[in-house]
Amino acid sequence: MNRYLGTKTKILPDINKVLVGLQVNAGRVCDVFSGSLAVSLFLKRSGYSVIANDINPLSYAYSQAFLIPNDVPQFDISRLLKEAHPTEIRNAKELAKTLLENQRVLFEKENRHGEFSSWVDYTKRLSSLALVSAFLEGAFKSALQKCRVRSCITDHYTKVGTKSHYKSMRGRRGRRNYFSEKNGRRMDFILSHIRHWWKEGLLSEQGKCVLISILLDGMERCVNINGTYHDFPRQTLEERARRPYRTCFPNYFGLLYAKQKHWAGCKDSLEFIREAPAHDVLYIDPPYNFRQYTAYYHLPNFITRYADIGNLEAYLKNIQFVRGQNMADDFASPFSNKEQFLSSLRQLIVDAKCRFVVMSYFDGANHWNRFLEEDNSLGYHLLGRFFRDENLFERGSFKVVPVQRNNYQSQNGHATKKVTEYLFVGRKTLRKPKFVKEISHVAA
Ligand SMILES: C[S@@+](CC[C@H](N)C(=O)[O-])C[C@H]1O[C@@H](n2cnc3c(N)ncnc32)[C@H](O)[C@@H]1O
Repeated sequence: MNRYLGTKTKILPDINKVLVGLQVNAGRVCDVFSGSLAVSLFLKRSGYSVIANDINPLSYAYSQAFLIPNDVPQFDISRLLKEAHPTEIRNAKELAKTLLENQRVLFEKENRHGEFSSWVDYTKRLSSLALVSAFLEGAFKSALQKCRVRSCITDHYTKVGTKSHYKSMRGRRGRRNYFSEKNGRRMDFILSHIRHWWKEGLLSEQGKCVLISILLDGMERCVNINGTYHDFPRQTLEERARRPYRTCFPNYFGLLYAKQKHWAGCKDSLEFIREAPAHDVLYIDPPYNFRQYTAYYHLPNFITRYADIGNLEAYLKNIQFVRGQNMADDFASPFSNKEQFLSSLRQLIVDAKCRFVVMSYFDGANHWNRFLEEDNSLGYHLLGRFFRDENLFERGSFKVVPVQRNNYQSQNGHATKKVTEYLFVGRKTLRKPKFVKEISHVAA
């Protein structure tokens, strides 16, 4: 997933440099706000053992697909596509060949660890995944007679849907417009198959999550949004959304060689950290403003959970607001609350069984700064003071590493501005903090 709010894709080498400086090579890192999994997968590729956690289920699906396993899932084609039409199988085989062939350049560049002994080995191990993905992208008739293709996405999230109407807070009425009809129907076809195969016991957890991740990555390239899933252009379909859904084949290079053990969670970080295994570095990339990620990514989260939701009709009856979210899935993060932010951060670090803390910070619009003003340094100074607190960190261990990057100012990404991200680094004190009691009181 590339278009994730606050993703650290652009500063991965800088994060790595900081970790190398801490001399915890091939150690264990806990990415406790893992989001798109960009950092976790980068760390796995760099040889670290990784613990990933995020409140958004989409993040967990990527973990189950690519972080935890050190192998490629195999699909039982003879059962999954047992009753598929022969012409559709033929078409799928053609498309699968192309999907694999498109990976050849990457294979030549990225197979440096020799995870695949040859190109033939690569195509063999990924052939069943390519065939299933190709079938899901192109076929029209169900692969199994019992698999009923539902219309949940088309009905609720496209303009042609019978249940996609909304009434905004201001009283404006309209229909949700996340996908073209064609892409909505394609997503329904794919989701119905994943759900049916999963319920029939034909998919492993890894297999299911890989198919969901491929769907999420493909959806990202044809969804009608400008930023997050909180809203969509009400009347028009952006150019991206007029393109057909295409399979986005996963990049396995660098993910299979190290055989380290990895962990994943899908909980409030304050709860997760108490049960996470000990680690060398706690990497913290929290939300710094009021925006709730569960609301901003409600649709990818719904898609992630689709196969596991018992009664889809009941679930969809309860979707609300213009965006169409079932509020039972919502989570109000303490880190998105200005009053709770610092005490939550303190609790997180107190409970972590780690040696070092590395925290990403960006002076954008956040709990303390408006970004438009000249001076946006209040948050920076507050966090600096936090990292100098000797109840939490060893004296003299605190440092800040500034990282320059481009920021898109407008939602449409026209104007760019040079901004500075910061990596705050500290070595956690071995002493038991004096204020533990007071803090647990605040957290409760
Ligand atoms: C800035 S994003 C992290 C981006 C991530 N590092 C990446 O590169 O994609 C912050 C993340 O924190 C998650 N989050 C917010 N509050 C949380 C909480 N209390 N517990 C766990 N995750 C939380 C959000 O779902 C979001 O994915």
